[in-house]
Amino acid sequence: MSGNLQEYIQRRKQELNGIIMAHFYQLPEIQDVADFIGDSLQLARRAAETDADVIAFCGVSFMAESAKILSPEKVVLLPYQEASCPMADMVTAEALRKKKQEYPEAVVVCYVNSSAEVKAESDICCTSSNAINVVRSIPEDRPIIFVPDRNLGSYIEGQTGRKMILWEGCCPIHDRLTQKEIIEKKALHPAAEIVVHPEVQAGVAQMADAVCSTSGILKYVQSSPEREFIIGTEEGFLYTLQKHCPDKTFYLARTDFQCQDMKYITLPVLADSLANLTYQVEVPEDIRSKALGSLENMLAVAP
Ligand code: 13P
Ligand code: SF4
Repeated sequence: MSGNLQEYIQRRKQELNGIIMAHFYQLPEIQDVADFIGDSLQLARRAAETDADVIAFCGVSFMAESAKILSPEKVVLLPYQEASCPMADMVTAEALRKKKQEYPEAVVVCYVNSSAEVKAESDICCTSSNAINVVRSIPEDRPIIFVPDRNLGSYIEGQTGRKMILWEGCCPIHDRLTQKEIIEKKALHPAAEIVVHPEVQAGVAQMADAVCSTSGILKYVQSSPEREFIIGTEEGFLYTLQKHCPDKTFYLARTDFQCQDMKYITLPVLADSLANLTYQVEVPEDIRSKALGSLENMLAVAP
């Protein structure tokens, strides 16, 4: 049955002149049918460049929205309409407007894990793989409001020496990882290097051998001479790591490290989406054009 579904997905994609893009946290069977798999920055870049007419975006809503902002003439499908990022919902455009009034001189840096409305209220976006360069690009004399991830924000502060006004948001999945869990895993696998995503808490990040975005973790483990790694990010990513490094061993830093929103898209859901062209992402033009400015500013700093 899944063989038939995969065939249908490929056939229908060709009929539509479509492309299937998937984030690293997607289910293995979705990663297997995708034309392009990547982290948030790689996906945004690819969405801006593709000449496909239809982008089926297997990820969460902020990622599909970014694709639509960058490629408004294309049909962008989010196969499961309710797939969203709980962290992105922790800041609203209205709350950000109030904060900007408190700090009228501030530059607003917004993590791509945010709504189009919040991007439209911001000056520049960043992803976890270019956040340090984005913050370094801002003149020293300007205060910075960083939304919505306090953990990524505090990691950037440590790397750049730049104090920022941090929003009180976080990824509920990464934020749950504790120092105790890292100590326990390291005791079980003493030879393993610890590699975590910057969405983990500052105390956990300090215990790691490397702190990187998903694509950064992949590069790190590929080039490391070590054979074993404790990975502090969402479980779906282990599929990619194992595929690229079959001779290395990966341990998830905590047993329950799953982002439910990333798991809603299954083969039947994707097939249905391509069959019916659902659910089409729309962003009102006034918001899109402002949000585009923030994304383009980011791509100019970290092309
Ligand atoms: P990456 O940009 O590293 O893929 O991160 C996106 C994300 O949602 C992490 O939780
Ligand atoms: Fe959002 Fe966290 Fe899920 Fe990433 S893992 S999409 S930050 S909730």
